[in-house]
Amino acid sequence: MPCPGKMGVLLPFRSPAMPRKLFVTTALPYANAAFHIGHIMEYIQADIWVRTQRMQGHQVHFVGADDAHGAPIMIAAEKAGKTPQEFVGAIAAGRKQYLDGFSISFDNWHSTDSDENVWFSQDIYKRLKANGFIATKTIEQFFDPVKGMFLPDRYIKGECPKCGAKDQYGDSCEVCSSVYTPTELKNPYSVLSGATPELRTSEHYFFKLSDPRCVDFLRQWTQDGRLQTEVANKANEWLSGEEGLGDWDISRDAPYFGIPIPDAPGKYFYVWLDAPIGYLASLKNYFGKKGLDFAAFFAEPGVEQIHFIGKDIIYFHTLFWPAMLKFAGYKTPDNVYVHGFLTVSGEKMSKSRGTGLSPLKYLELGMNPEWLRYYIAAKLNGRVEDVDFNPDDFVARVNSDLIGKYVNIASRASGFLVKHFDGALSTWRHAGGGEDLSPMTFHALAAKDAIIEAINARDYGRAIRDIMAVADFVNQKYDAAKPWEIAKDPAKREVLHDVCSDAIRAFAVMTYLLAPILPRTSERIAQWLGLATPLAFADIDRVPSAVKPYEHLMQRVDPKLLDALFEPPAQEKVIPGGEDLAAEIKIDDFSKVDLRIAKIVNAEHVEGSDKLLRLTLDVGEGRTRNVFSGIKSAYEPADLIGKHTVMVANLAPRKMKFGVSEGMVLAASHADEKANPGIFLLDPYPGAQPGMRVR
Ligand code: MSP
Ligand code: ZN
Repeated sequence: MPCPGKMGVLLPFRSPAMPRKLFVTTALPYANAAFHIGHIMEYIQADIWVRTQRMQGHQVHFVGADDAHGAPIMIAAEKAGKTPQEFVGAIAAGRKQYLDGFSISFDNWHSTDSDENVWFSQDIYKRLKANGFIATKTIEQFFDPVKGMFLPDRYIKGECPKCGAKDQYGDSCEVCSSVYTPTELKNPYSVLSGATPELRTSEHYFFKLSDPRCVDFLRQWTQDGRLQTEVANKANEWLSGEEGLGDWDISRDAPYFGIPIPDAPGKYFYVWLDAPIGYLASLKNYFGKKGLDFAAFFAEPGVEQIHFIGKDIIYFHTLFWPAMLKFAGYKTPDNVYVHGFLTVSGEKMSKSRGTGLSPLKYLELGMNPEWLRYYIAAKLNGRVEDVDFNPDDFVARVNSDLIGKYVNIASRASGFLVKHFDGALSTWRHAGGGEDLSPMTFHALAAKDAIIEAINARDYGRAIRDIMAVADFVNQKYDAAKPWEIAKDPAKREVLHDVCSDAIRAFAVMTYLLAPILPRTSERIAQWLGLATPLAFADIDRVPSAVKPYEHLMQRVDPKLLDALFEPPAQEKVIPGGEDLAAEIKIDDFSKVDLRIAKIVNAEHVEGSDKLLRLTLDVGEGRTRNVFSGIKSAYEPADLIGKHTVMVANLAPRKMKFGVSEGMVLAASHADEKANPGIFLLDPYPGAQPGMRVR
């Protein structure tokens, strides 16, 4: 009898569903920093889902892009001495190594700073305007007279109007949690220049979310069962709050890195207007490269548009975005799949610095990206829950489950087949009912539908539990047959052949089911077992007929790698001899710094600060200066009074949380203060007088 091919298996596991046509995106990351591990988690989640759809025979266009616009990026570019375009270009150039490194199968990566995005944003705006959804209103806003620009709320600080706490942001108080507008702040100042901002008026453009048509549409769109329960409930809260939906301010004044508003000189779209439109821009850009027809695609019935996002941007994606599309006459999203946040050993990630888990370092250490894909998958479910990366748990799951249970089946069973049967698998004989003859394979195939269903529902954790249950079953059956013993008994040759063949066939079925999670490993296994590639679920019962000698499929994680992964980066390490020398300067550069002998006439603690001392310094000017210095950990105020030290006397005054600092005292410290604490004020030889220049 020939070895079983497609025709050899009669189990009715195939569902003849119509192919879906899917347009899938992940949130567009701000183009002001490299990816952090939270981004990678989102891409892994979406990628597993997309690969699963593709393996089911569905058509997927999966795109991403950089979110390039907005004031923070404009300001960061200026600080870096680059144009905004150069700045975001440099960030974009760094994306590929991550996406390839973690096998994220985007069809395209683009940017919101693109011709396509300008076109779509302006088109959507014009249609909204024509349909009566745009209003203008003159608003009062803080303006930085030094920078010559209106200040976003984040760039204004001052005293909280409610509790008086100093140095609070323009939108909310970190001390008493009250929320207010920047104009309510007391003693406001610009974070950019330190200047006192002036109130100026400006005409702003608004998207009329309060329009009853909008509210009706959003009630329906958010509450018709498409969204995750938690997400629908959130949206409902916003929709039925006391004030209802406020109109959305979609314009910003020049200078702004963004897209000009048509017929409104000096006005730009607020970044959050053009950011989601970037999804369409990336798809359009991709279709252009592929010669596909964008309009025709969206005209097709049944096209589904799905956005993967994190829980912090639900408002934008379930209210603004569907409403914008709807009332511009565009297709609205079919779903928004929301995930929680990744924490690392229980710690939240800082938006700007990420965590100690650098995805790039992970790759550079040669850690297998599929370990991370597997681990993240094992922890994800379809709800909006945070996911914790725990190093010990990571090692345990990869080594005990992925390798110990799954990969090991291949190495154990293939050895006997190669040694005793030249690699040929025994025929899978169905005659008396498949279950008796090929129990492991039967078991694996029987689990298939539920596993694919779980992945479709983004409950990857359940899918992995089911796959591991199959692996447990296979290992138990295999162990119970004791192949290592029966291999010695020529009379049991056939049993040995069947058991090992069954294990390899079950392993092949499991490989299909894990393929969306482990794309590279499954590819190698497909080569090894001679499975048709790319792997498709329609072929899952085309079991292999032979194995080649076993090649190592996957290494175990050495726990030392995790220590290395979390080790602080080199520049923070304690290097004997200290830190690298700063760039060379000329004597003229040095003489720009006016160093003076200062007498510490007073020193005191600063209430509310665990780092600072307030110093009152005499630099021979006939007045004293107020200087805040981060030396609290090293000195008692009383020990400093009357001492001399050295200060930078021509440093621009700086407004700090506790007041203005008029200079800086000099102190020695180690490059890594955390690992090597100690701060040492400079102490001039006796005789130096306040006001003397140090040169
Ligand atoms: N630029 C906006 C999104 C515009 S979408 C039209 C943005 N960018 S972001 O870089 O801050 O975040 C991008 C995605 O990463 C968001 O979905 C966000 O929720 C997700 N994550 C950011 N930190 C995360 C974790 N710690 N864990 C998981 N996802 C996280 O928001
Ligand atoms: Zn307050």
